[in-house]
Amino acid sequence: GQNNLNAKLVLLGDMGAGKSSLVLRFVKGQFLEFQESTIGAAFFSQTLAVNDATVKFEIWDTAGQERYHSLAPMYYRGAAAAIIVYDITSIDSFARAKKWVLELQKQGNPNMVMAFAGNKADLEDKKKVTVEEARAYAEENGLFFMETSAKTSINVNDLFYEIAKRLPRA
Ligand code: GTP
Ligand code: MG
Repeated sequence: GQNNLNAKLVLLGDMGAGKSSLVLRFVKGQFLEFQESTIGAAFFSQTLAVNDATVKFEIWDTAGQERYHSLAPMYYRGAAAAIIVYDITSIDSFARAKKWVLELQKQGNPNMVMAFAGNKADLEDKKKVTVEEARAYAEENGLFFMETSAKTSINVNDLFYEIAKRLPRA
């Protein structure tokens, strides 16, 4: 019915940033210290209740390794939402995330709900990207921003919930 919505969601970001770990936490409530690097992409689905509606996320967890870059458009094309993930302990992953945002701004669906996730928030002592810097960047680019931890589960459900709330309703 009108209150049930299917939404294609894609995760993009540097290898090792924690895309698969965020999905595994959200879909299965699990975390693996030695999560294997994704090959190509992996598909998951999960339904969330938001107010009086249900949102069924069809999730594409892409591979961050550079050699898979050319596959990405297949996954973000037609996506209603994207989560761009960086690792708060890695300046390189932050730079890579900004490149993904640029690519989506140029080639993605203009109505896409975009979330910017600074993952590994549990590693506060190794932090290299400040909340202030990331939030300022996100605000300039109209992204919704959160720090997350797939390990402790901090903000992981909230991230998906906030995306679900922002999806346009039919
Ligand atoms: P690719 O598939 O290669 O693109 O990487 P990915 O972005 O899917 O990263 P993945 O989820 O495989 O995580 C990489 C490593 O970081 C794994 O060893 C995870 O256990 C670890 N990791 C992921 N999220 C967190 C987190 O929130 N905190 C900590 N401490 N480690 C994390
Ligand atoms: Mg992965």
